[in-house]
Amino acid sequence: MEEASIKHLDRLYEIEMECFESEAFTRQQIAYLLTDYNSVSLIAEVDCEIVGFIIGKMHIDGKSTIGHILTIDVSPKHRRRGIGLRLLEDIERVFRCKGVKVCCLEVREDNVAALSLYQKFGYKKVGRLKNYYGNAHGVYLKKVLT
Ligand SMILES: CC(C)(COP(=O)(O)OP(=O)(O)OC[C@H]1O[C@@H](n2cnc3c(N)ncnc32)[C@H](O)[C@@H]1OP(=O)(O)O)[C@@H](O)C(=O)NCCC(=O)NCCS
Repeated sequence: MEEASIKHLDRLYEIEMECFESEAFTRQQIAYLLTDYNSVSLIAEVDCEIVGFIIGKMHIDGKSTIGHILTIDVSPKHRRRGIGLRLLEDIERVFRCKGVKVCCLEVREDNVAALSLYQKFGYKKVGRLKNYYGNAHGVYLKKVLT
């Protein structure tokens, strides 16, 4: 899996728009994340076309470095082929190399696909985020990276 960079911005924004109706990151937010030193952004390709990406950020919390997954997007026609799992696996590998011990994320409570993916990959619900997405609630998930 390849690291994403600003040269991929157009395609990543296109996928973001395919994946989210509301709550999508803006083009500017994606551009910022692609160039931020503390971010990790990876792309997944099929036949030389970008079909998915993941963006996470690292921050220091006391003595630990925490990894925070901000978004994972797979283009609709490429779903259920293991790309999401691969993106998660790869970002965790990068996080581990950078000393991250715990990875966390938020997801809409009604996002069955994402919740199933995260739970399948070892993320545990540790909290409920009331009205985190306006009318919809969120779930806070965590995984200790071993
Ligand atoms: C969530 C998302 C990234 C999953 O990507 P994907 O490439 O389809 O996921 P995978 O093929 O790796 O799926 C791995 C496992 O996750 C679970 N899963 C994935 N999609 C699912 C769905 N629609 N319903 C139920 N379980 C699902 C399954 O357990 C699946 O394993 P299986 O196919 O062997 O049953 C994709 O649906 C997506 O881009 N959604 C829109 C964006 C989004 O909501 N991102 C999360 C924001 S926090």
